[in-house]
Amino acid sequence: MNLPVHNKQPEDECGACLAGDRREFLRDAAALVASALVGLGLSPERAHALQLQTIIPLRTSGEEVTYPIPAGDGAVIDKDRDLILARQRTAVYAFSLACPHQRTALKWLGDQGRFQCPKHKSKYRPDGSYISGRATRSMDRFAIRRDGSNAVVNLSKLFREDRDRAAWGTAVVWLGEK
Ligand code: FES
Repeated sequence: MNLPVHNKQPEDECGACLAGDRREFLRDAAALVASALVGLGLSPERAHALQLQTIIPLRTSGEEVTYPIPAGDGAVIDKDRDLILARQRTAVYAFSLACPHQRTALKWLGDQGRFQCPKHKSKYRPDGSYISGRATRSMDRFAIRRDGSNAVVNLSKLFREDRDRAAWGTAVVWLGEK
């Protein structure tokens, strides 16, 4: 009977065993995470889409906070200030993280390119404008201005669309043609 021939030295085989063990461990861990997410009613892909990446300010001065302008479309969160910084093509916005309905933390659905409230499912466009759901206004916007390659947000000026539509409408940094 011919037995399979292995050209590996014993230590190579041991390394292969360790690599195999690690692959198995990672596979088991991934399966565990996936089943936990399914238990929460989320697919792993969906849960990933709900995550907002964090952003750290470059500096703060009084009520003003300076952030680098995001390189591409999407949204990031400053958890310390409950603030979302979002870019859509040539427009940059700073939103309150709180849903206008009952102040639940909003989520960014990267795969759909919009915001959504996890509590009552109100939906908002990337510019914060209201689409549907229990909320009765768009996401609240902070005053924002451009400083070179940065965006400066004034935390003392938060505009509600239903109370100050003009200020809400101009709370945006334009990087180029609209
Ligand atoms: S708290 Fe967001 S829709 Fe109700």
